[in-house]
Amino acid sequence: MDTGNVTPVTQIAKTRRHLRFRGGTRRITPASKTLAPVKLNTDAAAAVLAPIYSDLPATKAAGQHNLTYGEVEWPTLKFMAEYVDKATPPALQNKGRFYDLGSGRGRAVLYMGLAGPFEQSVGIEVLPERLSLAQQALAKLKQSIPSAGSKIRLYEATFLNSSFKYRDARAVYLSNLAFDAEVQDAVFRKLAAEMPKGSLLFCHKAPAVIPGAFEVLGVERLPTTWTPTSDFHILRHL
Ligand SMILES: C[S@@+](CC[C@H](N)C(=O)[O-])C[C@H]1O[C@@H](n2cnc3c(N)ncnc32)[C@H](O)[C@@H]1O
Repeated sequence: MDTGNVTPVTQIAKTRRHLRFRGGTRRITPASKTLAPVKLNTDAAAAVLAPIYSDLPATKAAGQHNLTYGEVEWPTLKFMAEYVDKATPPALQNKGRFYDLGSGRGRAVLYMGLAGPFEQSVGIEVLPERLSLAQQALAKLKQSIPSAGSKIRLYEATFLNSSFKYRDARAVYLSNLAFDAEVQDAVFRKLAAEMPKGSLLFCHKAPAVIPGAFEVLGVERLPTTWTPTSDFHILRHL
């Protein structure tokens, strides 16, 4: 990921504290940086995150009655994490990034940061209000698991920004039912050009013509907040 022009809003300002130490000073590192990232099993991750999200304000970004916004449900995230896990050769375990393109309030990003077989979990969301809710959820999570943020990056941007290169993706999630045709076309072209061989793409709506760079592995019906049986296409980059 070359994100030179986009600063993750989760990046902690480099605040170094110093302790007096035998007449000199010793640099100490904030606790969140010294703790190893916690890896939870998928059920534990859902159990930790569900109460945080039920207390989190609903998004109002599209007006007082935001009827078009919906989120992925925990069993769908469990399916995704386990699918990637099974499809991954042992040498690649806990390597590569998970991307949620259009990450909303950050459910998928936080979940994969806790339970996914990834080195990092990245969310990119264009609406500042939703990104801010994702940050609030992350702050709440860090109250119980201080190291939880170490694998998570949240960006306020469009996922079409050319600073993002998806060459380090192991899995990409695209909740794309509401994307217009132009965005849908552009994001599939970008992912076809940039995702590495063998990486997985999960999306609710497949393009009318699937780019030759992908093969379809299957279609499932899985729960989202808008329906218990949303189509869920699984593609692999060739
Ligand atoms: C259906 S929501 C899904 C949220 C989240 N992925 C989940 O499943 O919980 C789709 C999100 O994509 C965002 N979005 C749409 N176009 C985008 C773009 N070009 N760049 C970044 N985010 C975008 C919307 O603002 C919305 O929050």
